[in-house]
Amino acid sequence: MKSFFDRDRIIYFLRDADAGERRMLYATADTVRRECVGDGIHLRALLNISNCCDRACLYCGLRAGNKNITRYRLDRKQIVDAAGRAAREGYGTVVMQSGEDPVLTPEFISSIIREIVSRHDMAVTLSLGERPREVLRQWYDDGASRYLLKHETSDLVLYGRLHPGMSFTARMEMLSSLKEIGYQAGSGVMIGLPGQTWESLAGDIMLFRDLDVDMIGCGPYIANPHTPLGGTSKKDGNQVSADEQTVLTVTALNRLVTGDTHIAATTATKTLYSGGGLYRALRSGANVVMPDVTPSPFRDQYLIYPGKEPVDGIAGAAELRAELKKQTGLEIAGGRGDRVRCHS
Ligand code: 5AD
Repeated sequence: MKSFFDRDRIIYFLRDADAGERRMLYATADTVRRECVGDGIHLRALLNISNCCDRACLYCGLRAGNKNITRYRLDRKQIVDAAGRAAREGYGTVVMQSGEDPVLTPEFISSIIREIVSRHDMAVTLSLGERPREVLRQWYDDGASRYLLKHETSDLVLYGRLHPGMSFTARMEMLSSLKEIGYQAGSGVMIGLPGQTWESLAGDIMLFRDLDVDMIGCGPYIANPHTPLGGTSKKDGNQVSADEQTVLTVTALNRLVTGDTHIAATTATKTLYSGGGLYRALRSGANVVMPDVTPSPFRDQYLIYPGKEPVDGIAGAAELRAELKKQTGLEIAGGRGDRVRCHS
C-alpha cells in the first residue's frame, strides 16, 4: 500500500481525481485506519499556555507585531489546574502549546512537566516551537514524551518566504533530534497556503512517510486579515485550494502512506467546514481530536486565524464524547494513546 502511493499517484489524487475516486480513497483510508490503529478516537486535551510569540510567520495571528490580539501567558497554577481538570475529565494526554515564547523558560516548563506527571497518569505532549537539543533532552527526562513541530510546508522557497529568519533545515534537524532523544514526534502542514502547489503538497505527504513521524496534524490555511498575507487568498491554476475535499484527500493519503501514525482531525478543519468536516475527517483516515481545555477568557485569545471554532463547542467532555461517537460510529479510546506499531 505504502509503495503504491508514489509521487505521481499522490499528485493525481490531490489534483485530478473525481468524486468517486476520492470516495474510494477515503473508504480505503478508513479501513487502513481501523486495521492499524483501531476504532478508538484518541482525545488530547489542548492547553494553549501562551499566545506570545517572537516569530513573524506571515500567515499567523500570533506573530510578533500583531497588535490586534490580546496577549496572555498562563501562570503555573493555571496550567497545573487546567491539566488536573483534564485528567479528571478522563483525558490521557495534555498538549501544552504556545507561540515561541522565551519567557517560558526551560526551568519553568520542567517544573510543570514534573508536577503533572507526578500527579496524574497522563502523557505530556509539548508544542512550544524550536528549542535547543539539551532543553528537549531535559524535558524528556522530566517526563514529556511527545513533541509537535509542524514543518508547515516542505517547499523550500515557500518556506523561506513565509518564515522570515527561520530555517527549514533547523526544523528537520529538530525533528530528528526529537526522535533520537526518544520522543514521539509530530509534524504537519497547512493546506492551501498562498503559493503552495499540488507538487509541493505531494512532497509534504511523502516527507511524513520518509520521516516516519508518529503524529500528523494538517489543516486548511485560513486567511487572517491581521497578517501580511491579509484576509483573502487568490487562486491561480496550480494553487492548492483549502476546500474540504482537499483536506480529506490529504488526511486519507497521510493514513495510506504512514499506516499507524496518529492523525489529527484539526481545529481548523472544524472551523472551516463546521462540525461535519471534522467527523468526515475521522472517517477518512484521522483518529485523533484535540479539544481545547484552555480556561476562559484565554481560550478565545489564542487567535491564530479569525472565527476559530473550538472542537468542543459542545457543552462538556461527556457531551463531546457522545457526539463524536454518534456522528462517526467510532469509539472513544481510553488511556494515554501512545503510537503502537502496526505489523499487518
Ligand atoms: N490558518 C490555518 N492554520 C494556521 N496556523 C497558523 N496560522 C494559520 C492560519 N492562518 C497553524 C500553523 C501553526 C499553528 C500555530 O497554527 O500550522 O503551526
